[in-house]
Amino acid sequence: MKSKLPTLQRILQAEGFGTRRYCGDLVEAGLVEVEGQPCDDPDATFVHQGLRLTVDGEPWVCHEKVYLMLHKPVGYECSQRPLHHQSVYSLLPHQLRERGVQAVGRLDQDTTGLLLLSDDGQFIHAQTSPRRKVPKIYEVTTADPVTEAQAQALRTGVQLDDEPAPLAAVACEITGERALLLTLAEGKYHQVKRMVAAAGNHVAALHRSRIGGLPLDPELEPGEWKWLEAHDLEALKSAA
Ligand code: URA
Repeated sequence: MKSKLPTLQRILQAEGFGTRRYCGDLVEAGLVEVEGQPCDDPDATFVHQGLRLTVDGEPWVCHEKVYLMLHKPVGYECSQRPLHHQSVYSLLPHQLRERGVQAVGRLDQDTTGLLLLSDDGQFIHAQTSPRRKVPKIYEVTTADPVTEAQAQALRTGVQLDDEPAPLAAVACEITGERALLLTLAEGKYHQVKRMVAAAGNHVAALHRSRIGGLPLDPELEPGEWKWLEAHDLEALKSAA
């Protein structure tokens, strides 16, 4: 019976290494190792998920779908064609850009912290759907000292231009003289900045520290990324 497993050249193509032809040439040129062993047969078949390759000297672990967390630094836009800054996509290896990985929602260029990226359309839709109300936690540094009245306004709801009804934070805690921990269930344009402004203060710096039950990995430096494991994807589904 014919094996249903994908060939090495198909796996390389799906992983973003280039066209099937180019990937076949890489294998035939002896530039690919599979699980530590040289393999020069493009039609050799393997289980895709978790396969460990070395391609032209570069180690690579195969993932059928891409789910990543990035520690977004200041000065990067969440756009494929940025206008004024670099693109967050420039922080990823070319193979992932080739696979059409997209940011799950957007952070402003001057916002730092947890950004998810994926090539799974259903996952992106589920995470960004207003109906899912995935909670997102932001560490807000304000320009002026925070008052209890401002925090209370954020909890009970503030009216933003072009919104039909006031928007309220799921939670709002004063964590310092000029610091707030704000949990939002929506992801509207500039939402934190607009809500804080409507409450009578101003955002000086903004950092997203958690989405659902998934915190930004403290080991990740700004600009670094990592693959999400199954338990991370589970954590995302749980409340913050
Ligand atoms: N709210 C904002 O105002 N900016 C962000 O980047 C994210 C949420």
